[in-house]
Parts: sequence; structure tokens; C-alpha cells
Amino acid sequence: MSFQVALARCAAETDALLDQLLPAEAVPARRVVEAMRYAALGEGKRLRPFLVVESAALFGVAREQALRAGAALECVHCYSLVHDDLPAMDDDDLRRGKPTLHRAFNEATAILAGDALLTYAFEILSDAATHPDPAVRLKLVSGLAKAAGFAGMVGGQMLDIEAETRIDSVLSDISLIQSLKTGALFRFACEAGAIMGDADPAPLLHYADKIGLAFQIADDILDVESTPEALGKATQKDRVLGKATFVDLLGLDEARRRAAALVDEAIVGLKEYGEKAAVLNDAAKFIVARQK
Ligand code: IPE
Ligand code: IPE
Ligand code: MG
Ligand code: MG
Ligand code: MG
Repeated sequence: MSFQVALARCAAETDALLDQLLPAEAVPARRVVEAMRYAALGEGKRLRPFLVVESAALFGVAREQALRAGAALECVHCYSLVHDDLPAMDDDDLRRGKPTLHRAFNEATAILAGDALLTYAFEILSDAATHPDPAVRLKLVSGLAKAAGFAGMVGGQMLDIEAETRIDSVLSDISLIQSLKTGALFRFACEAGAIMGDADPAPLLHYADKIGLAFQIADDILDVESTPEALGKATQKDRVLGKATFVDLLGLDEARRRAAALVDEAIVGLKEYGEKAAVLNDAAKFIVARQK
């Protein structure tokens, strides 16, 4: 199956599962679930769930189980986007081609819907439908908590905001910010497959580190080179906000060169899986070639 077909299939399955997992009728606070649905359903590449599903497939994990772990991770990712867009953070009005959640609803609802998406991820992971073995579920919960929290995505977001008011960010600062704010969730995406398959995660973690960094470099290049119409979110924001990015420090050409080198390094790490890793190889290439 080609990479594009496989990604589209996983995106459709993830969307259907999130739709089923977020029933707006079921709770008294219907508005917060409507806001969660607004943030989680529809557009979105679903790259993180795809990485969960494809890494799990290397070890023969049941697809329904991998999809649930992927949906949980996507909930955390969507929450991170909702909070990233808030006026106190990047202050954005457009996300996935529509108004950001705080614009469509209001700030209080966006904060609460983000909180609820985050906590719901752990409810999904800890449900027996995600994996029959409670020890595996505990590893998933612990792994996602670490990836999302102060030593992972949230920590990276803190450093990203702090760097806005600093003028002397060096390459190691920027690499650390990117590896936390973006890399940590990519790491969990690839690790989750190995956790569910009771396999050594080391080769996948190497791959994840490389593609996570390449992904954020590509995001920063697109911020400069793309348009809101093509990207579904505002562009030219990083310079305005004074973000510490590879593009800002090294320029577009060198940033592009580094992203391409990271893809090569990522693919080398998957050699031991042979042909089974073909789709993950293509995913690495897509990450830097993508137009949105
Ligand atoms: C955007 O992630 C946030 C970053 C980490 C740069 P994606 O580009 O994966 O966003 P969606 O999920 O496809 O909208
Ligand atoms: C956000 O990075 C990473 C997150 C943890 C959400 P950006 O701020 O560059 O993401 P976009 O460009 O708004 O999607
Ligand atoms: Mg940001
Ligand atoms: Mg942002
Ligand atoms: Mg960006």
C-alpha cells in the first residue's frame, strides 16, 4: 500500500474512532464536548496516530488496539494545539482551515476543552479495550504522561515562550526546545507500538528523534514559505513572535539541508525491520516534503 493511501486510511479510521469516543449527547456539560469535537474532528494529518499504528504493525499488534492508542495521543496533540493558539501563547485565529477554538467558542471554553482532551487521553489508554494486559496499559499511560508533561511537550512549550524574549538562542537551545515541544509526542508515537508489542523500542526511538526534529524544521520552513490558504493556519508568525527556530538561526537553505539529513539518519535506523518498515521510511520523507 502506498504511503498516501495508508495515511488517508489511518486518518479516516482515527476520525471515526474519535467521533465515537466523543458523544456530545452523553454528558451534562454538552458545550465542552462540542468544543472537544470541534478541536479533534475533521482536518488534521493524523501523523502521530499513523506512527503509532505503523510502529505497532511491525510487531503484529491488533490494529483496533493501536488505533485507540493513536486516538489517545491525537487527543493530547489536539489539546496542545488548542492551548498553543490561545492569546497568551501564540495568539492564532486560524487552525486546520477554520477559526481557532477560542475564536469559535471563547477562551474559557478552549482552556477547558484542552484540559478535557488531555485527561480523556488517559481514560482511553487505561481502558481494557486498548490492551488486555494492565501492565502494558500502565506503560502506555506513564509513557504518554511523561511525553506530554513538564519534561516533554509542556516543558518545550515553556522554553519556546521564554525564548521569545531572548535574543541569543544558540543551536543547542533550539534543538532542545524542538525535541521537547514536538519531539516528545513523536517519540511516544513510535514507542507506543513497541510497548504494545512488547518489543525493544530503541530503533524506533532513534527514528522518532530524527523525524520529530525534521518535522518541526519543516513546520518552521512552511511558516516562512507557505500561505494561510495552503497551510490552514497563519504564516509569517515565527518572526513576528520572535520564535527561536532553525530557520531564524541558519536560514532556509541550511534548515532544509539539516531536515533532509535527519530523514536519511532516521531511515538508517529502521534497517533491521527490512521491508516491513517501508511505510515508515516513506513517512520520514513525507515529513520534509509536505506542503501542509
Ligand atoms: C502542528 O502539528 C504542530 C506542530 C508540532 C508543529 P501538525 O502539523 O501535525 O498538525 P495537524 O495535526 O496536521 O493539524
Ligand atoms: C507548536 O509549535 C508545538 C506544540 C506543542 C503545539 P508551533 O507553535 O510552531 O505550531 P503551529 O505552527 O502553531 O502549528
Ligand atoms: Mg507555539
Ligand atoms: Mg503555534
Ligand atoms: Mg509553527
